Amino acid sequence: MSMLYHIKTYGCQMNHYDSERIEDLLAPLGYKKSDRPEDSDLVILNTCHIREKASEKMYSDLGRLSKYKENKIKSGSDLKIVVTGCVAQAEGEQIIKRNRDVDFVLGPQSYHKITELLNKKNQEKLHNFFPKESKFDYFPKTETKNISAFVTIQEGCDKFCSFCVVPYTRGPEFSRTVNEIVYEIKHLSNQGVREVTLLGQNVSDYKGMYQKDGKLEKLELSKLIDKISDIDGINRIRYITSHPSDISSKLIHEHKTNMKLMPYLHLPIQSGSDRILKKMNRGYTQKHYVDIVTKIKEVRKDFAVTSDFIVGFPGETDDDFLQTLNLTDKVDFAASYSFKYSPRPGTPSSLLKDEVPESVSNKRLQILQKKLDESQKKFNNSFVGKKLSVLFEKRGKKSNQFVGRSQYLQPVHVNSDESIIGKILDIKINKVEAFSLHGEI
Ligand code: 5AD
Ligand code: SF4
Repeated sequence: MSMLYHIKTYGCQMNHYDSERIEDLLAPLGYKKSDRPEDSDLVILNTCHIREKASEKMYSDLGRLSKYKENKIKSGSDLKIVVTGCVAQAEGEQIIKRNRDVDFVLGPQSYHKITELLNKKNQEKLHNFFPKESKFDYFPKTETKNISAFVTIQEGCDKFCSFCVVPYTRGPEFSRTVNEIVYEIKHLSNQGVREVTLLGQNVSDYKGMYQKDGKLEKLELSKLIDKISDIDGINRIRYITSHPSDISSKLIHEHKTNMKLMPYLHLPIQSGSDRILKKMNRGYTQKHYVDIVTKIKEVRKDFAVTSDFIVGFPGETDDDFLQTLNLTDKVDFAASYSFKYSPRPGTPSSLLKDEVPESVSNKRLQILQKKLDESQKKFNNSFVGKKLSVLFEKRGKKSNQFVGRSQYLQPVHVNSDESIIGKILDIKINKVEAFSLHGEI
């Protein structure tokens, strides 16, 4: 009988990409995926450390897994528990101390070791380090049925925003080579993938080596996008997440000339107050941010910009918060995520004293989310009666319903049949429901 594994992914798209690579690594060992942790021989928690809530969730999940392990041992078998991802990197030894049933703790740059650890007995439990070798060299070719795929092109971050754990959990910035990325995407395209989203914590700062005819050169993101556009079958390209300081004029120009590059940019601002941006070590002002958005909209009028916001950063006054609200009036965000500030161990801002009371942060978050939701609804409603270009990816919840994404990443539902999966079609939008759109071919 084959061994069963269950994997739970918390957090960002890069963690989802990593989980898929772990699945690729486990397949040749004969492991089959299960959605029932209680019946599995191996459970992997691929964790997120970005806010306190995400890490605490992991510890409560571990408590449940301990009980499953106890039951399995009683019945003469075992359940191996592996913790990977950013909590594994940040808390390492502490995880093993808090829960002795954990078998292995692997960091985001060392999880390729999982295969050798599972194969041998009496291995060290802790592997949360940055090894010399690249994990990417260990991944087998991926098998996918997806139409849209994520590809990590860059990892880590050298920006050190004062609130953020990423530079510590993912390590220094590192770009994969152009040749390696193009090879991976060609393989995805051969399997039916039509859209790729290039992933990086600081993707707009991508600088990867390119080797051709014995010559080596370093290419920036716009040039990498050019190379990917030449791959047959790849019709759509996106990239996420960008930093306002790295949006080059070449990248903006790429949006003008390359129609495979979607008119969509996720550009976190975090705060509209210059004073708070400075304390956050973000390296730009509100004006700088608005100028970038203006420049992009000059080259492509139909451009969707989305963002991330943090409210309640230490020392944020009513006036600072007002600046954030003012910004949302200046930029029509197509969608956004907003979070309450969460002090993270080891980050410079966790040492700041002038905390914003919880009740004030809650109120600000509520006000901001309401404004951002209205902005998103306004954006979506502006397409009613108009056409959107939609790449269909999968079945919807209702029978005969199929779902795809517009060029601006909005989910769009139509009634049709299986044959539309993988196609890009013009859809007339009839109505907007919550945050999804409904239309007809
Ligand atoms: N507290 C709250 N939100 C945070 N983010 C990152 N670190 C923190 C923190 N300490 C948010 C930022 C970032 C997004 C991925 O998570 O908005 O862009
Ligand atoms: Fe974190 Fe992004 Fe700042 Fe890097 S640029 S430190 S990933 S918020």
